[in-house]
Amino acid sequence: MLILGLNMFHADASAAIVQDGEVVFAVAEERLNRQKHFGGFPSLAVKACLDAVGARITDIDHVAVGQDSDANLARKVQYALANPDKILNFIHLRARKQAMRDLRTLLANALDVDAKLLRFQEHRLEHHIAHIASAYYCSPWIKAAGFSYDGSGDFVSTMLARCEGNDIDILERVFLPHSLGSFYSMICEFIGYKNYGDEGKVMGLAPYGKDTYCDPIKSIVGLKNGSFQLDLKYFKPLGSNQGMQIQSDGTVRLARHFSEQMEKLFGQPREPHGEITQRDMDLAYAMQHCFEKVFFHLLNQLHKKIPVENLAMAGGCALNSVANGKLFDSTPFRHTWIQPAAGDEGLAIGAALHTYHSVLKQPRRYQMKNSYLGPHFSDSRIASDLKKADLAYQRLDREPLLDTVAAQIAAGKVVGWFQGSMEWGPRALGNRSIVAHPGLANMKDVLNARVKHREWFRPFAPSILAEHQYEYFEHNHPSPFMLHVYKIRAQKRQELCAVNHVDDTGRLQTVSRDENALYYDLIKAFQRRTGIPVVLNTSFNENEPIVCAPQEAIDCFQRTRMDTLAIGPFVVSKSEN
Ligand SMILES: [Fe+2]
Repeated sequence: MLILGLNMFHADASAAIVQDGEVVFAVAEERLNRQKHFGGFPSLAVKACLDAVGARITDIDHVAVGQDSDANLARKVQYALANPDKILNFIHLRARKQAMRDLRTLLANALDVDAKLLRFQEHRLEHHIAHIASAYYCSPWIKAAGFSYDGSGDFVSTMLARCEGNDIDILERVFLPHSLGSFYSMICEFIGYKNYGDEGKVMGLAPYGKDTYCDPIKSIVGLKNGSFQLDLKYFKPLGSNQGMQIQSDGTVRLARHFSEQMEKLFGQPREPHGEITQRDMDLAYAMQHCFEKVFFHLLNQLHKKIPVENLAMAGGCALNSVANGKLFDSTPFRHTWIQPAAGDEGLAIGAALHTYHSVLKQPRRYQMKNSYLGPHFSDSRIASDLKKADLAYQRLDREPLLDTVAAQIAAGKVVGWFQGSMEWGPRALGNRSIVAHPGLANMKDVLNARVKHREWFRPFAPSILAEHQYEYFEHNHPSPFMLHVYKIRAQKRQELCAVNHVDDTGRLQTVSRDENALYYDLIKAFQRRTGIPVVLNTSFNENEPIVCAPQEAIDCFQRTRMDTLAIGPFVVSKSEN
């Protein structure tokens, strides 16, 4: 049985294919069309899914979409009636969504087939159920508490659920305009980070701040009746150009969130590229602090309703790895399974697996063991692309390849590491990564000057061999998808100085051999040379979507001042080219 899952006409459009209950391939459209956070129809991703299983669109049995514009309709109407000046916006938005509903025509056009030949059944699933499904059905558990939170989806920002066997039962929804994601985006925008997806950057700024504004920010997002509420006077009203907008070319834009009340309280908003002042850092601090407070409150409420140790979580806010790292100390949950594509690209997997288990009642066998679900390329394709680029290269067997690259990293070189299938989700986890020495004091500056050009306050991440995690970090709970930030132990901070953030933390990736044998063995080879079971890992890109195909990696290598490219079995050195 083939199920195609889709996230479409929404940020981070994507497709995933589930074959007999197993996710065999998944990719976000941005990696293929190279348009960051693309929010149109994922035509290339659908084609890639079909190619991965050798199927045609006429072979697909079910198509599941992680969005349902009919969900929570009564709430939408109620809001529109209470805000009559916004009714036209709602009617316009709904008309646009209806126009995008004809899935058969969309798929037939994208794949150039006659729509009459398509035999699939169509399924629409509410946004946050799809988020929770993307975590729970990928986890090893048959019972868990389910939690999803983000800016908004189908008029909801937060969902609490009981997950048991094949079923996800909704316990509670938080409806718009109350949204922790909107709160976070609004403050980010106020301090000059206005693009969709900038929230992850500002998370790194928070530890530079002090507790100056926690009290006033607390009045913007407050706890109420076991849930939370925003003080709406600080926000532009919904429907008045507020929130995420998808342009006709698939570009995602965020319209202004904050109202004049913010300026009254905190002064002038910072312009992008303006100087970052202590005020901005203190606002980032207060934002993260208040976000965590509400997050832990919601999780504690959820645990009262579902007193289990397992938490299955997704939604864009679940990418807040700082909050995730603290939840073991602030809630009774002991195990997390967070979907690596916690943002909206993950809806494709959630919708497809929900169809398989909840709608079609098929038994649960699948577990997502790693995130390497994307495209891969043959050695001959890579060699051909290297020749086209006129690059001199060496072909090495596995052991010499690992030794050569480990020696380069140990010598302080910056290495592009392109291997196997691309990661699913926003993190590079050792297949489309740039790797470097974690213990050289200048490595952060070197990487920023020569390749990444990131903001000075953003830390780089460590990949650590699983068996050494507790020696280096104060928590032992694994973080295979780089979704937890933990304190680095005091005696190890110097050894990891290039990945030790200003608050002595690191957003680690726990690497075990059964998840990625080649990457594990590379870190092991580096450990043999240096004694350090850790490498610095940052995504293989330069202000663009992470590289997917060999040609993109080669372009990035040639354009930047990376020293070495290890791509499949081939090693290319800048000094020889
Ligand atoms: Fe979402």
